Amino acid sequence: MLEVRDLHLSYGRIRAVQGVDLDVAAGEIVALVGVNGAGKSSILKAIAGLERPERGAIRFAGRGIAGWPAHRALAAGIAYVPEGRMIVGTLSVRDNLRLGAFARSDGAELGTEIERILGIFPDLRDRLDEPGASLSGGQAQMLALARGLMAAPKLMLLDEPALGLAPVMTRAVFALIARLKAEGATILLVEQNVVEALALADRAYVIESGRIVKHGAASLLARDPGLREAYLGLSREEPA
Ligand SMILES: Nc1ncnc2c1ncn2[C@@H]1O[C@H](COP(=O)(O)OP(=O)(O)OP(=O)(O)O)[C@@H](O)[C@H]1O
Ligand SMILES: [Mg+2]
Repeated sequence: MLEVRDLHLSYGRIRAVQGVDLDVAAGEIVALVGVNGAGKSSILKAIAGLERPERGAIRFAGRGIAGWPAHRALAAGIAYVPEGRMIVGTLSVRDNLRLGAFARSDGAELGTEIERILGIFPDLRDRLDEPGASLSGGQAQMLALARGLMAAPKLMLLDEPALGLAPVMTRAVFALIARLKAEGATILLVEQNVVEALALADRAYVIESGRIVKHGAASLLARDPGLREAYLGLSREEPA
């Protein structure tokens, strides 16, 4: 469904992405892991049309989309759920959800869609009329994911959905991703909770300084001694 070939992206003189190849097949969960500054968000932003790649190809559902603006990528079925959530604090939870659907052209009835999404995120129901800013960190992350789903995306790009969350909310986020997977969603997941991400993903890529240094079946990478050593210190601390 998604094919990235020889992707390069720079910010001025900072070469954030240096020749990345990456694939996501329909129905797959693919994890992209790496330390801070490795280039993970930059790859997602290039796919979502939020940063312009310097060179390389991005094919989605058979079409070349490199350099497309974000609204076109979204309309084509790519939903990006950014790091830091980016929900609109002054808008109600309901209006934040509506925003997620703005690029849909399938004529879906918004009320019905919101009901469908609330079936997945029941905790948001009581908060529908409250401003986004009133939500806790975990609720805000749920809203950001819910808003992404409102676009009925073919591909979801999730950028550190558990960042900054308490362990109980982190588990809720991973449980949600597992549910989306069971429902057939296609997801490219950036996570620093490497153990959890590899447990959930079908395949994974490890990125260092803008380059993919390892990739393969997530179950194999989870047992990779080098990876365990490099990332054990980064994995979420287990609650006592
Ligand atoms: N808007 C920007 N302007 C300049 N440099 C940037 C910008 N965004 C990212 N960078 C730099 O590009 C490199 C890759 O950043 P990126 O955000 O893609 O990494 P990341 O793997 O997502 O890191 P993190 O885990 O901290 O989110 C880093 O050196 C970062 O400082
Ligand atoms: Mg990032």
